[in-house]
Amino acid sequence: MATSALSLEQVDAYYGDSHVLADVSFELGEARMLGLLGRNGAGKSTCMNVAMGLLPPRRGQVRVFGKPVGGLSPELIAASGVALVPQGRRIFKSLTVRENLIVAARKPEAGASRHAPWTEETVFGIFPRLKERSSQIAAHLSGGEQQMLAIGRALMGNPRVLLMDEPSEGLAPQIVAEVMTTIRKLKESGLSIVLVEQNPKLVFDVADDIVILNTGRVAVVSTPADLNKDGVDLRQHLGVF
Ligand SMILES: Nc1ncnc2c1ncn2[C@@H]1O[C@H](COP(=O)(O)OP(=O)(O)OP(=O)(O)O)[C@@H](O)[C@H]1O
Ligand SMILES: [Mg+2]
Repeated sequence: MATSALSLEQVDAYYGDSHVLADVSFELGEARMLGLLGRNGAGKSTCMNVAMGLLPPRRGQVRVFGKPVGGLSPELIAASGVALVPQGRRIFKSLTVRENLIVAARKPEAGASRHAPWTEETVFGIFPRLKERSSQIAAHLSGGEQQMLAIGRALMGNPRVLLMDEPSEGLAPQIVAEVMTTIRKLKESGLSIVLVEQNPKLVFDVADDIVILNTGRVAVVSTPADLNKDGVDLRQHLGVF
């Protein structure tokens, strides 16, 4: 694989005494998209929390473009070029759309980004609906618009690595298609992306690499093409879909 944008290396993570990730390793290549799959409670969000510094790993390492960041604060990890679109969006509901974007603004690392820096205007360029609603309180947005705002807010941090935790959750199929089109464009712009999903159909089209978690362990590391070819029984790891 070319340059590694993000890697988890033999990560063990706990919530209190509860051992949630065991020996988890995977690698996201630069400008690639990794689809992280697994059923409810498999540990997908926990991997994102560890990568973002929200939950320090008890063992193992996290690297961003080769630099060890395991155990650093979320602020320092964000400064090294990682942004998270959290599950459930978590936008600031009492702020306006524009304010949600402004508070997340961060200059890109010098020379790090292939893309022109993200600004309010360029975010409004990919999400025109947000521009129309820029002065509205975020609580009044539809679910789809809130998801767009969550993505826009992450982009305002000018990341090199974008972590997206179930961006399709709770959205109507047509809105999911719109969000997926945007995600595809972001990948084409050179961003390295982890796309967490429960539904493999959504990620198999867009991801270069697939990692499947099962009860806190990596069960499968593969590509969509190989998974189709080998006829791996995904139901074993993902349940019915
Ligand atoms: N804050 C927490 N405190 C204690 N246990 C937690 C906490 N968050 C998650 N867990 C537990 O850790 C395990 C992994 O949860 P995680 O949220 O990473 O799963 P997930 O794969 O993201 O699931 P989902 O698809 O439902 O979002 C689950 O057993 C969950 O109950
Ligand atoms: Mg989750």
